[in-house]
Amino acid sequence: MPIIPKTAINGAITGWGRALPEKVVTNSDLAKTMDTSDEWIRERTGIERRHIGGTTASLSIESGRKAIEMAGVDPSTIDALILSTTTPDRTVPATSAAVQHGLGLRCGAFDVNAACSGFVYGLVTAHGLIAIGMKKILVIGTDTLSRITDWSDRNTAILFADGSGAAVVEAVEGPGQLLGWDIDADGSLEDLLYAEIGGTLYMEGKEVFRRAVRIMVDSAEKSLKAAGLTTSDVALVAPHQANLRIIEAACKRLDIPMSKAAWVGNETGNTSSASIPLALFDAADNNRLKTGDIVLLVGFGAGMTAASAVIKWKQP
Ligand code: COA
Repeated sequence: MPIIPKTAINGAITGWGRALPEKVVTNSDLAKTMDTSDEWIRERTGIERRHIGGTTASLSIESGRKAIEMAGVDPSTIDALILSTTTPDRTVPATSAAVQHGLGLRCGAFDVNAACSGFVYGLVTAHGLIAIGMKKILVIGTDTLSRITDWSDRNTAILFADGSGAAVVEAVEGPGQLLGWDIDADGSLEDLLYAEIGGTLYMEGKEVFRRAVRIMVDSAEKSLKAAGLTTSDVALVAPHQANLRIIEAACKRLDIPMSKAAWVGNETGNTSSASIPLALFDAADNNRLKTGDIVLLVGFGAGMTAASAVIKWKQP
């Protein structure tokens, strides 16, 4: 378990942005074309509607632009762009190329694919780059899962959707925001949730559910331990928005009340890489966070990956 050296240069989120496609698809809309119902989807997942549309680059440019504007930084001074996505627009090059160009950045740009854990992987990587000298990094989590969803398969179509969330992370002098982190993966479980190139998502829902709770709890505990904190210190959890029941089960095991969990999945469905930033920045925009609050970000996803980060919130 890596402990952040006290002497390491740390960072802080200084701006953020969110983007969701305009088109809304409700559970009742889905029930018109497949054997499901609004009631079943709400009860089993907590999802009520989702946003569908756009490309990974277009949504990333929208959320990234908002984050840059909020941080008040000149795009040409950003040192790196990290785009977390599992749904790139092209096989080659990385979608971060189009996003870098669209935002007028002049910096290194690369994609990270750790499925729904990807935004936290990106955030942790950004802090690593800051520790070795970078000053400003744009981290974006975007997925357009609707493009790899089989819209006649009720096992998956009820869950997946599109969205984007972005954060500008800047180097700080003195104590920074990242207190503890964990990235994890168990590749032996890759067949539980996958899409072949050009294909659509296949998922063993029950098994993913079972594993998800376990690996979320495990990752969260590692990050908190690395930070020298316990779950009672946590003011807000921004978990991966896959299924409200998964979040409830994980929070119960972690002994964190659901009143401390950020949940936007009712509105967004599962947006993979975008899910944690959408939940975190919804909470921030709705005044649920103040400087000094301990925030736990925790995700899991195909791979199966898991990642978590404990941050000390700093209101920009
Ligand atoms: N609409 C209506 N009925 C459905 C349905 C749907 N979309 N999907 C399944 N059912 C039916 C099943 O056929 C079954 O009927 P039966 O009892 O007559 O056999 C019943 O509902 C229960 O199905 P089950 O698969 O046990 O449901 P579940 O409670 O496990 O919920 C998921 C299914 C997919 C919502 C749930 O397993 C889940 O969320 N898994 C994790 C998925 C996930 O997080 N993926 C992303 C990872 S990043």
